[in-house]
Amino acid sequence: MLGRIGIVFLVAVIMVVSLYYLYRMNAKLPALPENPSFKNPTISTEERITDLLSYMSLEEKIGQMALVEKNSIRSTSDISKYGLGALLSGFGGSPEENTISGWKKMVDTFVAESKRSRLEIPMLYGVDAIHGHSNVPGLTVFPHSIGLGATGDEELVRQVAEATRAQLALTNINWSYSPTYDMPQDIRWGRVYETFSDDPELVSRLGSAYIKGLQNSEYNGAQTPAVLATPKHYLGAGSMLWDTSSNENFRIDQGVTPVNEQRLREIYLPPFEQAIEEGAMSIMAGLNSWGDTKLAAEPYLIQRVLKEELGFQGFVVSDWYGVYEISDDDYTSAVTAINAGVDMVMLPFEYKKFVRNIKRAVRSGDIAPQRIDDAVRRILRAKFTIGLFDEYYSSDAQTIDFEADRLLARQAVAQSAVLLKNKNVLPISQSEKTIFVAGSAADNVGMQAGAWTVEWQGVDGNWLPGGTSILSGIQSAVGANTNVVYNQNAEFDAEKPADIGIAIVGEKPYAEGWGDNPNPTLSPEDLIVIERLKSTSQKVIVVLVTGRPLLITDEINQWDGLVVVWLPGTQGGGVADVLFGKEKFTGSLPLPWPATLQQMPIATDGKTADGSPVLFERYFGL
Ligand code: BGC
Repeated sequence: MLGRIGIVFLVAVIMVVSLYYLYRMNAKLPALPENPSFKNPTISTEERITDLLSYMSLEEKIGQMALVEKNSIRSTSDISKYGLGALLSGFGGSPEENTISGWKKMVDTFVAESKRSRLEIPMLYGVDAIHGHSNVPGLTVFPHSIGLGATGDEELVRQVAEATRAQLALTNINWSYSPTYDMPQDIRWGRVYETFSDDPELVSRLGSAYIKGLQNSEYNGAQTPAVLATPKHYLGAGSMLWDTSSNENFRIDQGVTPVNEQRLREIYLPPFEQAIEEGAMSIMAGLNSWGDTKLAAEPYLIQRVLKEELGFQGFVVSDWYGVYEISDDDYTSAVTAINAGVDMVMLPFEYKKFVRNIKRAVRSGDIAPQRIDDAVRRILRAKFTIGLFDEYYSSDAQTIDFEADRLLARQAVAQSAVLLKNKNVLPISQSEKTIFVAGSAADNVGMQAGAWTVEWQGVDGNWLPGGTSILSGIQSAVGANTNVVYNQNAEFDAEKPADIGIAIVGEKPYAEGWGDNPNPTLSPEDLIVIERLKSTSQKVIVVLVTGRPLLITDEINQWDGLVVVWLPGTQGGGVADVLFGKEKFTGSLPLPWPATLQQMPIATDGKTADGSPVLFERYFGL
C-alpha cells in the first residue's frame, strides 16, 4: 500500500529523528578532554572529584547511586549503559563455579564492564564478609563477631580483618558490609551473633580494629587492595522491641527502636563516631525504625547528626530493599530516602525504574540537584580513597598463606571460648581413659560456622571443605591412652561408663529475622543427649555452639562443666585446644547472659526488664 518510495521515506524520517535525539543526548553530555585531570593521581582527591563531576550527566550521576544485586542485571552491558555505581552478591549470589577463580572471573567481568562506561568509573563490588570470605567454600571461616567480642582482643580482630581482606582480594572484591556495630538487648533477636557486644566501648574498640584491618593494604608484608569497610546498621539496631517488626515473617528484626535521642547519642552513636575517625567511608542505614520512621527516611539522624554534626565525609548506603519499606509508593520511597541523606540505594533489583524515578524527581524539583551532586561526590570520594581509580590490582593465591589464616582462626576460636562453670573437670586431663562425645553440634562444621556461610541461612552438615569439626579436634587432641567414642545421640553402653562425657549442642544456623526466637533454649533432642551422657559418664561437660546466650537456668546445676564457644567457624580444633588445656581460657561474655525471658530487654548498664539478676554478668568468664 505504501509503495517502495513510501517505505524508503518512512525509514529516512525515522533515521533523521533518531539521529536528532542522539545528537541532543550527546550534546547534553559535558565533553570529556583526552586526559581529564581526575585520572591524575598526583592532584588532590577533592580536585579529582570536582573534575569528574563536571563531566557527568544527570543519568550518570544517578547510576552511581544505584547498588544492584548481580542476578538482577538484565544484561552485563547495562552496567556501562547505566553507569551503575556498585553491584553486590547477596548470600547465595555466587557464580556458577563457586570457587576462587569462578568469583574472580565473575567480578572481573563486571568491573571491566563498568570501565567501559563513558567516564570509565570503576564499580564497587560488595559482599557480606562478616566472618571471613565465607561465600567461597574452602576459604577460612572465622568465628562470628560475638566470638570475637568474647576475645576482647583488638589486635586479633585486626588480624582477622586483614586476612579477610587478603582473601577477598583473591576474588577482586573491594567492598564488605562489615563490621557490625549493632548492640543487642534481647537474646530473642536473630542477629545477636553478628554483633561484637552490647557494650559501646568494646564495639568501638573492636570495630575500629576491624576497619583498620580491612582498609589498610598490607598482608604478610605484601600489598593487597584495600577493601571498603561498612559499619552497620546506623542507628540503634539491636535495641528494637519484641513484636514490633515491620516484616510479617519476623518478630523483632526490622522492628522499632524505642530509645530516646539521649540514649541513642550515649549508647549507639559513639562507635560510629570512632569509625569515622578510623576512616570509615561508607555506613549502612538499618532496616529498623526510630519511632515511626524507618532509618533510611530519617533526615535528622543521617543528614543532620551523621553528616553535619559528626562530619562524615563518606557515603550512606541503605540496606537490602530498605528504601522501599518507607512507603507503598516507589517514587515517594526513593525520593524520601535520598532527601534524608541516603547516597547509595541497595535497590537491589529494579535499577531502571530507580533511574527513571530519580530523574523525574530532579526535573520536578522533588530532589535538589545539589543533593545528587553531594551523594555522588561522597561515593566517588570512597572510590578514590581506596584507590579504585588508580590501580586495580589483584593478589594471587601465592601471596596468601592459607595455613597461617587457619591457625589465626583456630587461635581466635580458642580465645573466644568462655568457661562458665567448672567443677574440677576442665581442662580435661590427658590421663582420662574414655571420653564419650555426643550432640548435634559435635560433628557439624556447618553448625559451627552458622549462617552467612556459602548460603544466607548457612548450611547444616559436615561438608565445608577445609573445616575441622569439634569432634575431630578432640580426636586429634587426646593422648594415646585416651579412647574417644562418638555417638551423636549419646546411645552409649551404660555398662561401660566413660570418665567424661562431652555434650556438644546448640543452635542450627539461621540469619536475620528467620532466627527471631520467642524462647531460645536447648532443643528437646539436645536435652535428651545431655541426660543420656549423665547416665553413662562420671562427669558431663556441656559445650554450647550458639549465636546467643540460651536459657539454661533450670539445667546448669546438673552439669559439671559449661563452655560457650559461640559460632566458631571452620576451625573446630580451637575448641579442643581449650578443653584439653593446650590454651588457657581467656574469653569473657561480651553481653549479659539472662536467667529468664522476663529479663528482656537488658539495658546497657546491665539492668534487666524485671530487675532480677542475670545468670552471668557481662565480662564473666572463669
Ligand atoms: C542485611 C545487611 C546485609 C545486606 C546485604 C541485608 O538483609 O540486613 O546486613 O549487608 O542484606 O546482604
